[in-house]
Amino acid sequence: MTSFCLTTNGTEQAHELGSAIGEVLRGGDLVDLRGDLGAGKTTTTVGIAKSLGVTSTVRSPTFTFIHHHRCTTQVQELLHVDLYRVDHAAELEGLGLFDLFDDDTVVVVEWMERAGGQLPAPNLTVELVATGETARAVVVQIGDDRAEAFLQALGRRGLQADVSGPA
Ligand SMILES: Nc1ncnc2c1ncn2[C@@H]1O[C@H](COP(=O)(O)OP(=O)(O)O)[C@@H](O)[C@H]1O
Ligand SMILES: [Mg+2]
Repeated sequence: MTSFCLTTNGTEQAHELGSAIGEVLRGGDLVDLRGDLGAGKTTTTVGIAKSLGVTSTVRSPTFTFIHHHRCTTQVQELLHVDLYRVDHAAELEGLGLFDLFDDDTVVVVEWMERAGGQLPAPNLTVELVATGETARAVVVQIGDDRAEAFLQALGRRGLQADVSGPA
């Protein structure tokens, strides 16, 4: 794993961060988006969706748990999952979440910790911490095979990161 530490300022840069992430995603990936309410998990997903060619509107799926978005890249579908309202990991069975993983699908999960370890290990982790009204400290962890591509995707969007790893 390679870790990228950076700061974003404002919604636009959060979208750029998400787009850079979306650029290196492949079908079958699971993305773990971590951070408190308002940290920017959904805002990051908007950027991810943009890079995957999603045209439907990305909104917080808090009340429905899972939103399906059709993609227009080699990825066919983006599943945007928010487990905030899951009180017991046992509820996940009823959501049918486990049946939705396949090689053409990217799954992005907010509040994945509420799944109690029932989901597979993520391919990419994004941790967001609010350090000011519009400033967010971001740590992205990504497999070493795409670290270079991700660094370039960030650079094309004017985002600079401190890179460390592989561990
Ligand atoms: N640098 C930033 N990164 C992410 N969101 C930001 C940033 N600056 C401001 N915001 C705002 O913070 C809010 C984040 O909300 P949201 O993405 O729904 O958070 P979460 O899904 O983590 O609860 C949005 O209103 C967004 O526009
Ligand atoms: Mg959210």
